[in-house]
Amino acid sequence: MVINDIEFKLKDGRSALLRSPKDEDVQGMLDYLYISAGETDFILRYPEECNKYTPESEKDFFDHTNESENDAMIVCLVDGKVAGNCQISWSNGIKTRHRASVAIALLSEYWNQGIGTRMFQEMIHIAENNSEILQIELDFIEGNSRARALYEKMGFRITGVRPNAIRLKDGTLLSEYSMIREIKR
Ligand SMILES: CC(C)(COP(=O)(O)OP(=O)(O)OC[C@H]1O[C@@H](n2cnc3c(N)ncnc32)[C@H](O)[C@@H]1OP(=O)(O)O)[C@@H](O)C(=O)NCCC(=O)NCCS
Repeated sequence: MVINDIEFKLKDGRSALLRSPKDEDVQGMLDYLYISAGETDFILRYPEECNKYTPESEKDFFDHTNESENDAMIVCLVDGKVAGNCQISWSNGIKTRHRASVAIALLSEYWNQGIGTRMFQEMIHIAENNSEILQIELDFIEGNSRARALYEKMGFRITGVRPNAIRLKDGTLLSEYSMIREIKR
């Protein structure tokens, strides 16, 4: 699915652009994947696990997502730089196609600027315009109070906890919380 340009202002006054990824974003996306993995324990990859991403694989992924009817990806660009991305996807399965899942991460220099809020507004809009989708689902890791605050603001509620779902390199075990937001039309 292709998302057309959405311009908005960050809290600090800078202009930002949301849109589907383009070939020109490949290197920015690779940089973002690697850097963000080292900035927080609240995303699922470590930097060295980003070796599997190459310019070719990213370009293929962009093409696949933009052409798919069951996926949408938004990148956020600030001053031409990839600040982060957000994805929504759902299956074709008759029993599960009413459930969409969403994921988001930004480089730390862009946290708390309202990007997550604007991205989630768009994702909810996509879900509301799909007659099959009845709920959006996501998970967050114990301690991620910023993500939780964003999700609760956007209408998500906690529906469950998976104890010890995450094990950091130093052995720390963290729980993962599941959230759901109903889609009402
Ligand atoms: C979580 C994340 C996507 C949120 O995006 P964002 O653009 O920073 O979020 P926004 O600025 O739109 O909104 C954040 C809200 O949380 C609030 N907030 C910030 N820090 C907070 C904290 N420690 N506790 C509670 N609320 C907090 C902000 O005030 C803001 O609310 P407001 O707009 O009503 O003032 C982003 O911070 C990020 O990429 N974090 C690292 C990766 C990550 O955790 N991804 C999610 C994995 S589940």
